Amino acid sequence: MATQPVVGIVMGSDSDLAVMEHTAKALERFGIPFELKISSAHRSLDATLRYIRQAEARGIKVIIAGAGAAAHLAGVIAGQTILPVIGVPLASSSLKGLDALLSIVQMPGGIPVATMAIGEAGARNAGILAARILALSDEALQHTLQSFKEALASEVEEKDRTLQERRS
Ligand code: RP5
Repeated sequence: MATQPVVGIVMGSDSDLAVMEHTAKALERFGIPFELKISSAHRSLDATLRYIRQAEARGIKVIIAGAGAAAHLAGVIAGQTILPVIGVPLASSSLKGLDALLSIVQMPGGIPVATMAIGEAGARNAGILAARILALSDEALQHTLQSFKEALASEVEEKDRTLQERRS
């Protein structure tokens, strides 16, 4: 039996997939089941609304929405649910993601979207933030996140050791 997804990764277009795969990779690393969906706030609003209205009942706990240009996807979703929504601005227009960043981050009071950095780093961090949210009620996941954090620190220390050796 397939594992029930607890994170929904939604993106406005198939052209967003290459970047949003970094979110999927982060979730895979923590063993968090997720689903991927293409749905647009502009081009397929009805389908987006249907998806979000059913998400909670299907066991989704966190929504991650990646979109570029006049990126309304995360905000529209946040307006339809009380699930935590994480927005990832994508650099898919000539404004290189600044348009999407401002569209996602400037939510009116009352409808929060946790906005990540533009592009790959933001997509990756969205997965990690979703893991941190889920870890609040999952002790095993807390340990996994702690080990991940320590591994990041070790990587930096290793890089410094290599640098110092090269210079000595
Ligand atoms: C946004 O418009 C999508 O999220 C995508 O980043 C951007 C361009 O979409 P395509 O024209 O490549 O389908 O809605």
